Amino acid sequence: PSATITLDPAFTIAPVRRRTFGTFVEHMGRCVYTGIYEPGHATADEDGFRKDVLELTRELGVSVVRYPGGNFVSGYRWEDGVGPRAGRPRRLDLAWHSVETNEFGLDEFIRWCAKAGVEPMMAINLGTRGVQEALDLQEYANHPGGTALSDLREQHGASAYGIELWCLGNEMDGPWQIGHKTAEEYGRMAAETARAMRMIEPGLELVACGSSSSRMPTFGSWEQTVLRETYDFVDYISCHAYYGNDDGDTASFLGSAVNMDRFIDAVTATADAVGAERKSSKKIHISFDEWNVWYGDRSRRTDEDSDGWSVAPRRIEDEYNVTDAVVVGNLLISLLRHSDRVGVACLAQLANVIAPIMTERGGPAWRQPTFHPFAITSRLAAGQVLRVETDSPTVSTARYGDIAAVDAVATYDEGRLAVFLVNRSTEGPVEVSVDVSRAGVFSIAEGLAIHDEDGLATNSADHPDRVTPQAADAKLVDGRLTVTLPAVSWAAFSLA
Ligand code: AHR
Repeated sequence: PSATITLDPAFTIAPVRRRTFGTFVEHMGRCVYTGIYEPGHATADEDGFRKDVLELTRELGVSVVRYPGGNFVSGYRWEDGVGPRAGRPRRLDLAWHSVETNEFGLDEFIRWCAKAGVEPMMAINLGTRGVQEALDLQEYANHPGGTALSDLREQHGASAYGIELWCLGNEMDGPWQIGHKTAEEYGRMAAETARAMRMIEPGLELVACGSSSSRMPTFGSWEQTVLRETYDFVDYISCHAYYGNDDGDTASFLGSAVNMDRFIDAVTATADAVGAERKSSKKIHISFDEWNVWYGDRSRRTDEDSDGWSVAPRRIEDEYNVTDAVVVGNLLISLLRHSDRVGVACLAQLANVIAPIMTERGGPAWRQPTFHPFAITSRLAAGQVLRVETDSPTVSTARYGDIAAVDAVATYDEGRLAVFLVNRSTEGPVEVSVDVSRAGVFSIAEGLAIHDEDGLATNSADHPDRVTPQAADAKLVDGRLTVTLPAVSWAAFSLA
């Protein structure tokens, strides 16, 4: 079977948005404690941050990090995590049934962001708290000084944090959420919080909670109701999606990006319908601030004492394989091709908890297979995202019907073309021919692929580099890039 792809640097979708390459640090399991933060670790710096994880975060090419949750944020008191460590309270974390020591909080997170070279994206608690606490947090974080909370931050040794991007709660449509609300209740609360936050700083970028999954019974009507309340006060509506292969239907799992495409299109249409009702020229963008592969119960490491209340227990430490990495690469293709509407996206999460980076307490840090397509896409995608025309054989899937076996996106930046490709077929290879003649490129600067004869191959502390990107075998002749993509594979090329 063969596929053809045609592109032209004149046919652009939108600029590559660096915030597409965000991740997420939640106070959950071992993401913070023994993940990014572990005083006493051989690589810990003066703040207790693991330097091995900082280095991997930079290599991953992360732009923005959402914090501190997730479900955790809906019961969180931000004040617990600032100022001298000695006075910080230990609290019950109801979301993840654990004890939060508050050793790490906002002040540490901002210092960590500076060291990692990433932008903070701050989530506020609209589960157990409301407008006043959001304003207090904003005053502490962003006001330059001369007020009680901004002076408190100065006393803690920090000048204003200048956080621009804020999430108005987390997954408030989910009955599992502490302080779960109806769309009407949440919409009003989010609108009032946003309106008040803008009285301090009109230029903030604010994200309203969309649905926690497109499978939620309220999906669609939730977005409509929330946006009817918040349209004039927010910039983004969030999407969350996790894809798993628990039922062994690998063909459908490999088609996960089809669901992401439809999800984004549906939310965009709903937002634009609300905009039309309001006769507004404003466009609401999407913050896809949680996405990943997540196996419901496939976690091979289970929590040793899940019935007790413990500090930083193991939680959902999924071990990813090559097939998962191919799906992650394809989900990034979907996000990139929607750069006209997706302004922010966060791979959930960064360390240990369904994460590209794994660590052991007192031990090494290593890259999961999913690390690689993310790092490569973040490094190569630049300039403008191009609309590509793909003519591909199809594969049939139980969940999404017949889908194209080959999916692709490209970016173009001053004479440099990046092409990202995936073969979603489990059956066999596809010959792909990409017409790059209009891009004025003559050589392959780089070609990398993720593939393995064993689709279940994975990395571990003992074998951290079992799965790594391999050189992709391709030719560029007379303006045609030709490559054979093996079954279940992902590849990226940089052409100049
Ligand atoms: O990322 C793990 C959890 O998934 C987050 O806390 C929550 O927002 C989502 O349901």
